[in-house]
Amino acid sequence: MASQWWRSAVFYQIYPRSFADSNGDGIGDLDGITEHLDYLNDGTDRSLGIDAIWLSPINPSPLNDWGYDVSDYCDVHPDLGGLPAFDRLIREARRRGIRVILDLVPNHTSDRHRWFQQSQSSRSNPRRDWYIWKAGAPDNPPNNWVSIFGGPAWKWHEATGEWYLHLFLEQQPDLNYRNPEVIAAMHDVIRFWLDRGAAGYRVDVIHGMIKDAQFRDNPPLVKVEWGSQTDVALKQRHLYDFDQPEVHEIIRGFRRVIDEYGDRMMVGEVWPHSNESLALYLRPDELQQAFNFRFLFCPWKAERFRAQVAEIERILPTGSWPTWTLSNHDFPRHITRYQSGPATEARARLAAVMLLGLRGTPFLYYGEEIGMPDVEISRERWRDPVGRDGCRTPMQWSNEPGGGFTSSRSPWLPLGNCAAVNVARQSDDPYSMLSFYRRAIRARRASPALTAGTIRVVDDAPADCFVFAREAAGSHAMVALNFADEPRGIELPSGKILLSSDFGREPGRIASGKMRLAPNEALVLDSG
Ligand code: GLC
Ligand code: CA
Repeated sequence: MASQWWRSAVFYQIYPRSFADSNGDGIGDLDGITEHLDYLNDGTDRSLGIDAIWLSPINPSPLNDWGYDVSDYCDVHPDLGGLPAFDRLIREARRRGIRVILDLVPNHTSDRHRWFQQSQSSRSNPRRDWYIWKAGAPDNPPNNWVSIFGGPAWKWHEATGEWYLHLFLEQQPDLNYRNPEVIAAMHDVIRFWLDRGAAGYRVDVIHGMIKDAQFRDNPPLVKVEWGSQTDVALKQRHLYDFDQPEVHEIIRGFRRVIDEYGDRMMVGEVWPHSNESLALYLRPDELQQAFNFRFLFCPWKAERFRAQVAEIERILPTGSWPTWTLSNHDFPRHITRYQSGPATEARARLAAVMLLGLRGTPFLYYGEEIGMPDVEISRERWRDPVGRDGCRTPMQWSNEPGGGFTSSRSPWLPLGNCAAVNVARQSDDPYSMLSFYRRAIRARRASPALTAGTIRVVDDAPADCFVFAREAAGSHAMVALNFADEPRGIELPSGKILLSSDFGREPGRIASGKMRLAPNEALVLDSG
C-alpha cells in the first residue's frame, strides 16, 4: 500500500500573500515562504515541527477572489514569484521533509481565463460548452439559484444573448463537468503540479463540480444546521447546485490521476447536505480526506465539541481518517471567536491540544501558533468582496516596522498589533503560545497513541470537560480538556504528564487518580 503520510502529518495552511514578503513590494510571496521554512520545521525542537504545508491558490489571477479565480492553472502569479520560486520552495521544503499541497480550484475559472474568453466569444466556439450556458431572455434567469456571494447565480451575457452560471462571483464562471474535455483538461492540470513536486491538493468547492442535470429550482431554506456556510445569509437550500450524486464519478477520475503517482493526496472542501453524503466522498476510490468545518461553528462548550467528535467518528467510513480545523482563510480566527478577556490565551492553548490530540489530521492556520487574532478592517479597506480580510492579515514576525513581514511601508493588508503578538518575542519565551505549540506538536509526534491510535470518549467526565482516551498498540494517552473558567475535579488513570496548558504543572510528573484541572486547562497523560 502506498504510504499514507497525511494521516500522521500536521498540516499548516499558508495564505501566500500574507506570510512573508521577500522583495519589499508589500505582498507575501513564495520566496518569503522558502526563507521561513526553518521556522516551520528545521528538524529541531526550536522549530514549529509541522510536516506539510497547504498553500492557498498561487496561480495567476485577476484577484477578484484573491486567487480562487484562476486565469492560468499552469503558472504561478508574478506577485508570488513565478514558477522558479515554486521550484525553489519545493526543493527547500523537501530538504526539510516538508510536503507541499496546492489549492486546486476546479469548480470555476476566472472570466479572464483563456477558456472562458474563448467560450464567451461566440455560441459556436468549440469551448462554448466548457462552461454552463443557458438560453433565455435577459429579464428571466434560467432558475432561482443564488450565488454564494449574494445575488443571482446567473449572468446575462449581452454579446451572445445567453446566461452563464457562476456559483460565486460573476467573474468566476462555473466549468461544465458534463463535458469530457473539461475533465481531461483538469486531469492535465493535476498532473502538471504533481510532476513538479506537489504532494497533492486541497480541492476547492469539490462538492460543487457538477449541477443538477435539469437545473431545478432550489427550495427555500427552512432549517439552518451547522455547516450551512452561506445558507444563513442566503435563505436557500442548495439542493440542486451542490453535492450532486454525479460528482463522485468526477472525483474518482481525479483520484485515478492522483494514484498514478503513488504517494499523493487530496483533501476536499466538502459542504455536504448530510452526514451520509459526507461519507460518500471518503470511499476508498475518492478523496483520502475531506475537511469537516464543524469546529468553526462550535460555541465554547465541552459538550458541543464532544458531540461533533462523536458524530464524525460515527459517520466516517471505516478505514477513513478524520481531519480537524479550527481556523482558515474564510472565517474569523478561533482565538478571536473564543476570546474571553484574560482567559483568551488559555482557551487557545486548550483548543490547540484538542486539535492535536484528536484522532485525525490537524490543519493549522498560519499565525494561530502565535495566537494572532483577527485584525479589524473597516469596510473601505476591504480587499475581499465579502470582507474576509480580518483573518488574512500579514504574519507578525517581529515588532519592527512592517512587522518583519515586509520592508514596504504599505503591506497589502494592514498589520495587526505586532508589538503585542509576534514570533520574535515568543520564540525564546517558554511560556509563549509559540513554545506551547512546539511542545504540543512534539508531544503528539512522540506518542503513537496520539498520532495513530483509536479514540474513546469518556462519558462520565464532568459536564464542562471533554475527556478522551487514545490507544495504539502498546501506547495509551488520555486527553482531558476543561472548558470551564473554574477548576474541575476529574478521575484519570495514572500516567506521566506529557503536556499541560497550565504552566504551573510539571511535565514528566506522575499523576494518578483524582486530579484537579485548572480553569481552561488541557492535560495530556501518557497512560502506559
Ligand atoms: C472556497 C474558498 C473560498 C473561495 C470560494 C470560491 O470556499 O475557501 O475562499 O472564495 O471557495 O472559490
Ligand atoms: Ca513580495
